Amino acid sequence: MAGNTNLAYRRLCRKFGAELTTTEMVSAKALQYADKKTQALLARGEDETPVAAQVFGSEPESLGLAARAIEARGFQVLDFNMGCPVPKITGGGGGSALLRDAERAAACVTAMVGATSLPVTVKIRTGWSDEEKDPAGFAKVMEDAGAQAITVHGRTRGQKYTGTCDLESIAAVVQAVSIPVIGNGDILDLDSAKKMVETGVQGMAIGRGALGSPWIFSQISAWADGLPVPPPPALAERAALLLELGEGVVDIHGEHRGMRIMRRLAADFFRGVTGAPQLRNDCRGLENLLQLEELARRLEQTSLHRV
Ligand SMILES: Cc1cc2nc3c(=O)[nH]c(=O)nc-3n(C[C@H](O)[C@H](O)[C@H](O)COP(=O)(O)O)c2cc1C
Repeated sequence: MAGNTNLAYRRLCRKFGAELTTTEMVSAKALQYADKKTQALLARGEDETPVAAQVFGSEPESLGLAARAIEARGFQVLDFNMGCPVPKITGGGGGSALLRDAERAAACVTAMVGATSLPVTVKIRTGWSDEEKDPAGFAKVMEDAGAQAITVHGRTRGQKYTGTCDLESIAAVVQAVSIPVIGNGDILDLDSAKKMVETGVQGMAIGRGALGSPWIFSQISAWADGLPVPPPPALAERAALLLELGEGVVDIHGEHRGMRIMRRLAADFFRGVTGAPQLRNDCRGLENLLQLEELARRLEQTSLHRV
């Protein structure tokens, strides 16, 4: 997730059992120009395996070059973004704009598959809009183009992040293809994970549900393995996780940029605690690690107002 799933965040998710992590999306074109910001977005941990790099773009040739660059950087999977609804991305023909042009989307996937020995996976939404929507048909085209797995976010581009996740469309994709389907959208707790499993998906991708609560992975995997589901960590542990995240983000981006990233990431750790509005507000003013330590102390000392 752009702005969120940096290496430090992914480390927290893995600690709680996430089995495959993915970078923030990077532009295939920017990769060719060795853009500094793009390099930082692709920071990868030696201890992080398997990890996917996600790219976006709409030109087969530059995507082929990007595929090579991603392989050279040591990633294990290359994921292609065809879900992003942001006009800056769709305006250039990338992200979810490709859902309206299956032929071009297939050419992009074929170019990447031909350029790398890494498995190429794709991330889609159910369609462009309610009127322009054929998730099963589109997924089949992607499979035929060489995609080795497909993640489906159960919303159309038109919905952006509103409405609810369309589990029926995800189930239709499961029926249509023989590659693994990873279900995505609104998995916020065990109950929503169970509903996703009923679609027949082989895996689940969790985005917002892991922000500020990376332990969601351990709860879902314990349930899947038939083990007792662990409760959310106590506030002292959450405070330690928040600090660990902040220090990791500063390692990657330096204190100045790192704290700007943490202003948003830190706020999620205060969900459900007493005094959250003030604490979250104070996250917006984060300038340095000392202030983050102070916020972590306050997190430890507050209490949960709902369990
Ligand atoms: C701030 C933000 C950034 C996102 N960035 C990406 C991204 O870079 N690549 C991607 O595939 N999806 C991205 N997404 C979409 C999520 O991965 C996911 O598909 C969507 O939020 C629905 O799943 P969720 O309910 O588990 O969050 C982003 C979502 C948000 C809210």
